[in-house]
Amino acid sequence: MTKKYLTTAIPYVNGAPHIGHAMDYCLADVYARYQKLIGNEVRFQVGTDEHGNKIFAKSKELNVPVKEYVDANSNKFKEFIGKLGVEYTDFIRTTDVDHERRCQEIWTKLNDHIYSAKYKGWYCTGCERFVTEKEAEENGGICPDHQRPYEALEEENYYFRLADFKDQIREAIEKDEMLILPEFRKKEVLKLLEDAPDVSISRPRAQLTWGVSVPGDDSQVMYVWMDALSNYITVLGYPDNDISDWWPAAAEFVGKDILRFHAILWPAILIGLGLPLPKVLVSHGMVLSNGQKMSKSIGNVIDPVEVLDKHGVDAFRYFFLRHIDTFADSDFTWEKFEDAYNNELANDLGNLVQRLATLAHKNNIVAGEKNIVLDENYKSLMDNYEFSKAFDYAWEKVNGLNRQIDEEKPWSLAKNGEIEKLNTVMGDLVQGILEVNEMLKPFLPNATSRIAEVFGGEIMPPETPLFPKN
Ligand code: MSP
Repeated sequence: MTKKYLTTAIPYVNGAPHIGHAMDYCLADVYARYQKLIGNEVRFQVGTDEHGNKIFAKSKELNVPVKEYVDANSNKFKEFIGKLGVEYTDFIRTTDVDHERRCQEIWTKLNDHIYSAKYKGWYCTGCERFVTEKEAEENGGICPDHQRPYEALEEENYYFRLADFKDQIREAIEKDEMLILPEFRKKEVLKLLEDAPDVSISRPRAQLTWGVSVPGDDSQVMYVWMDALSNYITVLGYPDNDISDWWPAAAEFVGKDILRFHAILWPAILIGLGLPLPKVLVSHGMVLSNGQKMSKSIGNVIDPVEVLDKHGVDAFRYFFLRHIDTFADSDFTWEKFEDAYNNELANDLGNLVQRLATLAHKNNIVAGEKNIVLDENYKSLMDNYEFSKAFDYAWEKVNGLNRQIDEEKPWSLAKNGEIEKLNTVMGDLVQGILEVNEMLKPFLPNATSRIAEVFGGEIMPPETPLFPKN
């Protein structure tokens, strides 16, 4: 049994969750359940990122005290993660006092790599990111993700000397000691690393009041990403505790939009602290809504709770883990979601279970004694974080069983009194569904536990359909 620590990006709490936020949780949860299935011990962090200008400004706009505002939104995320069936072990909020104190201790440990200097350049509050002159110019002064002009800044800041770590980071990436997935993003990161300047890691309190104070200098507040990235280790108790049981993380799940922070700034902090780097950075694509990035101004933001309430958690996880590609951008539409539910979950899987259980029950077939062994092709896809492909592979097996029933026609065998053949055919089919069920467990927690019950011993058809149609 190996210990595996998995992390997810902590979302900003400047609003309620939207369906895009589900990706980190769905992917990490599938991996967590898979690891447990193959006998490993898992620690799994989730949480909320609660400091920074973006959140502060939003609370002001709504005229709600900022602490009250972050409390309410953090709870919405917690509720959402719970509804998604995520088996996390730790929930961290960056406003937790222990986290704040630990961040200050981390800062102090990095002191040799920190210097103060004037920052003159650009900032995007939407991204909470300092933007170089070159990038601002290339984008015509407007953030392409937020469609807002960059803010011009001229202020005294603390800087983190990234130059001290670049060679080590490059080497770790090139040698896959910190594996970046998908593979093609590795090149992008290496290119960014080449040009990456030292990072400004604080803001004057006059510009940003909502954050962790820089130790020894109350006039400065930590840059929100310094505080946020540290969550992955402060949640384990660093630096108070020895975290070597769990750290380095086996995998960190993030969206492609924030890969740069995780692949450059985060490793620099870790090397500065003398800690090893995460083994894998899994960077997923974006969920689009009707072909476009979700945005409040376009009016295409989809509430994940509405999607969950429509057909339940398995339907949600089915769509986001199979029809949303693990690594590419993919589109959510209600039409595609309904179609997947009715034609695949209800027809392919729901009907298979019903048909097979009814046939088995009628013909007094019981579950076989054979062990359930996880399919090697499936394992290799799961081990390589190719979750949507692994799910496709398992679904192929679902359809294979449907075809097998149609071809073997167990009802004719029963009618013709070919009992021995009937028993063999049915035994294979029941073994087949139990094997598929094992592969589906990380994806569809509720349906698979019902299927395990139905085919667990004396076989009884489910009293209500697994996926009822409206
Ligand atoms: N607070 C930072 C993360 C700090 S991690 C130390 C942040 N927050 S976020 O709310 O903007 O994004 C949280 C996660 O949700 C990120 O992994 C991001 O990529 C993901 N997504 C946000 N919108 C998304 C989609 N539309 N589609 C898929 N994932 C998306 O960045």
